[in-house]
Amino acid sequence: MAIPKRMQAFVLKAYGGPELASLQEVPVPEPAPRQLLVRVHAAGLNPVDFKTRRGDLRVVQRYPLPVVLGNELAGEVVACGAQVRRYNVGDRIFARVDKSRMGAFAEFAIVEEDHAAAMPATLDFATAAAVPLAGLTALQALRDELHLASGQRIFISGGAGGVGTFALQIARHLGAQVATSASPRGEALVRQLGADTVVDYTRERPADVLSGYDGAFDLIGGDSLEQAFAIVRPGASVVSVAGMPEPQTASKDLGRGLGLQALFWAASFSLRRLASKYGVRYRFLFMHASGEELSELARLIDGGELKVIVDSVYPFERVAEAMARLEAGHAKGKIVVTMADK
Ligand SMILES: NC(=O)c1ccc[n+]([C@@H]2O[C@H](COP(=O)([O-])OP(=O)(O)OC[C@H]3O[C@@H](n4cnc5c(N)ncnc54)[C@H](OP(=O)(O)O)[C@@H]3O)[C@@H](O)[C@H]2O)c1
Repeated sequence: MAIPKRMQAFVLKAYGGPELASLQEVPVPEPAPRQLLVRVHAAGLNPVDFKTRRGDLRVVQRYPLPVVLGNELAGEVVACGAQVRRYNVGDRIFARVDKSRMGAFAEFAIVEEDHAAAMPATLDFATAAAVPLAGLTALQALRDELHLASGQRIFISGGAGGVGTFALQIARHLGAQVATSASPRGEALVRQLGADTVVDYTRERPADVLSGYDGAFDLIGGDSLEQAFAIVRPGASVVSVAGMPEPQTASKDLGRGLGLQALFWAASFSLRRLASKYGVRYRFLFMHASGEELSELARLIDGGELKVIVDSVYPFERVAEAMARLEAGHAKGKIVVTMADK
């Protein structure tokens, strides 16, 4: 296809409220030697999109503004950098895009070759776009951080959301028994995805009814995270993606130096003190893009072992509405925007 010079994109012009992001015409980016230019057919939404817009993550990632928002996509390769080896024009790929650039809420986007994976053969673009960020987060937390093993019992808070719907199934795939928290709006879904025990967090505190678990994966933060320390047995780990970053988040996940480590050390002090009172390890994970791990998820999806739960699909023109639905915090599975065929 002929690649146009300009495209529609959802652009953030200043940090703050929803009115600061809008659809605009911007230049189509050009791929560097190890990058792909992808015609985006669909892009998934994640809380990081509105947190970025609000400026919540500026201490970790500061973008030169204006910047095109959006962190994951599914689409078709339309151009390859000179050193790209694994992909060709016409390939259907999905990816979590590089977090230092973003850019998935656009008609065209740049994807690092190493961050891309061939799209699952059994999925359409809209469903595939829902996978990368949440799916990789769940895999990395459960397998690489919690080292979840067959027969163990895990507590996953917020099982009905974007990350939770992947985490419940991956935990079951790893052979674990799963307890989760969900409101009555999400109960049928989390049970369908394999939750053995469901605590209605609107009626009771998970820590009042669960104990002795081998690990916890927290998707909610705050009081929900603090309860997780009481739910796991001494010596177990609690991994959060929604609580307060700790020093390892800076060094291991972000590759940053002593300045950010010290900041996170101070910010997580009371949480780490609580964890040590319970004899529990606390870790805050920042997920990373990985084409290789995304291929593993694609295999699970095509093998029928991992279902992708899509809450709703909006046309790209209504991306602001889709963001508002996500920000309201009640999505069941993932929210996606789709670009019109041209
Ligand atoms: N650090 C990282 O690398 C990373 C990566 C991915 C995500 N995250 C973070 O992880 C968090 C979850 O992301 P997500 O995509 O799963 O969010 P999401 O899809 O917006 O989660 C929404 C779901 O959470 C449920 N929920 C709300 N409060 C709850 C509570 N107190 N207990 C149990 N469930 C509750 C809602 O159910 P009801 O409406 O029925 O209550 C809704 O179904 C976000 O803070 C996100 O920023 C971090």
